[in-house]
Amino acid sequence: MKAFYVTTPIYYISGNPHIGHAYTTVVADVLARTARTAGPAFFLTGTDEHGQKVANAAAEHGKTPQQWCDELIPRWKSLFAAFHVEYDDFIRTTEPRHETKVQRVFQRLREQGDIYLGTYEGWYCVADETFWPESKLVNRRCPTCGRDVQWLSEQDWFFRLSSYRDRLIEYFRSHAEFLRPRSVYNEMMAILEEGLEDLSISRTNFDWGIPIPDDPSTSSGGVIYVWFDALLNYITAIGWSEDDARFHSLWPANVQLIGKEIARFHTIIWPAILWALGEEPPKTVFAHGWITVDGQKMGKSLGNATDPFALVERFGADSLRYFLLREAPFGSDFSYSEEKIIQRHNSDLGNDLGNLLNRTLAMLRKYRNGVVPNRPQSSGLMARFADLPQRAREATLALDFRGSLEMIWELVTALNRAIDERKPWALAKEGRNDELDALLYDLLEGLRWLAMLLAPVMPERMREMWRQLGTDQQIDADWSEMLRYGGIAPGTQTMPGEPLFPRIELAGVSPSG
Ligand code: MSP
Repeated sequence: MKAFYVTTPIYYISGNPHIGHAYTTVVADVLARTARTAGPAFFLTGTDEHGQKVANAAAEHGKTPQQWCDELIPRWKSLFAAFHVEYDDFIRTTEPRHETKVQRVFQRLREQGDIYLGTYEGWYCVADETFWPESKLVNRRCPTCGRDVQWLSEQDWFFRLSSYRDRLIEYFRSHAEFLRPRSVYNEMMAILEEGLEDLSISRTNFDWGIPIPDDPSTSSGGVIYVWFDALLNYITAIGWSEDDARFHSLWPANVQLIGKEIARFHTIIWPAILWALGEEPPKTVFAHGWITVDGQKMGKSLGNATDPFALVERFGADSLRYFLLREAPFGSDFSYSEEKIIQRHNSDLGNDLGNLLNRTLAMLRKYRNGVVPNRPQSSGLMARFADLPQRAREATLALDFRGSLEMIWELVTALNRAIDERKPWALAKEGRNDELDALLYDLLEGLRWLAMLLAPVMPERMREMWRQLGTDQQIDADWSEMLRYGGIAPGTQTMPGEPLFPRIELAGVSPSG
């Protein structure tokens, strides 16, 4: 069975990570965890360690690039751990398993004529590691990040990107799902329609990269362009040219998540490289929006990046994960603010979900010694949610995270409303024991569903909820088996504990950024 394969971009380790980096990785983690509720999944992330940008950062700190990368890696890995991210593999482009295969790709494409020697003259943006024709510059600066560009004139190896243009246009037209959202699709289509130039894929003015194999053109030896090297991580990590069975059990990737600023690399250059190798493009590339501060992309260079470790400390990783997925439709930009995080935390998580658990367990303790009752009759409460797991999963796997959470919240709302309307305290007082048991049972069963449904988004808090529910089942088991009505066993002793999402006060909030 083919596993659901999801990737993030590999991150430049030119500095400390910020919440924008955590964002893509958290989304990928939620996808992988959700896919796993129905079958196998594989989640790859990693670091992009070559190129001038990383080399410059290392030099500024008086280190060799390799030393610099080795020292920073633990910080990136601990960021992901702090956000409860569980990847299956973490690839570093300086690893031999990657480097040897990149050289193999280069050799193969050169032999078959997809790579040839030519002369490059043009502009280069180091921050984005991108070549730009003069016509694309804005005020003589990089059109993406607005920084200075440098003039390059060198003999380079070129990839015959232009020869893939018609095939790309045709592919875009016949595979609307290949690139989402539509706004980015339209942007890339416009680039294709304008025409494509061949891509310089080597650098000679600089040496922090994978050496070009047996290069007759330069005596000192050039290195492979960092983007050509980096894109290949998605296949070198899973055994391309080495373990065909494994490779084909994962490729083509189901979802490749990227920020919208790197769509051209992933949807024009990447499929062309794959075709040159005789492989298929990924099924979907999703280009998400930016986390912005005062309308500008959050990033290190603008000095507006928030420290993600401090955020986790203050709000808790699971609340942040929820916020990142719930706040804006996936694909749009969204402006970052601590007030909004607090608002989501206090209202959705604290009031709606956390209180529901507290109230239910408190009533159960009061009326039934904390033990899950039998179901003498149905309260009817859960009936309309029978297909919720399937619908919520489909929405998540279609990358509609907000929609999925809204569906799940209908269950939260229905359970809260049932308490308010059916008044268990009145049923207890009037001795309507069967009705009370039926209601309590369904509230607990509903909570069990919620813990499972929300575990991909809030893995740690939902485990705590699971613990308080006292069940000995597996929270991350297959939904089709576990999310059938009647799963919580009568006689289960619940274990009320601390509130799941203690209130965070707005007072004393420091300005964002
Ligand atoms: N190394 C390249 C990617 C190579 S993939 C073969 C790169 N690295 S990066 O570190 O600069 O950015 C990686 C990703 O971080 C972006 O695509 C985006 O997903 C994420 N983000 C960085 N800043 C962000 C925001 N302010 N908001 C949301 N995501 C952001 O590009």
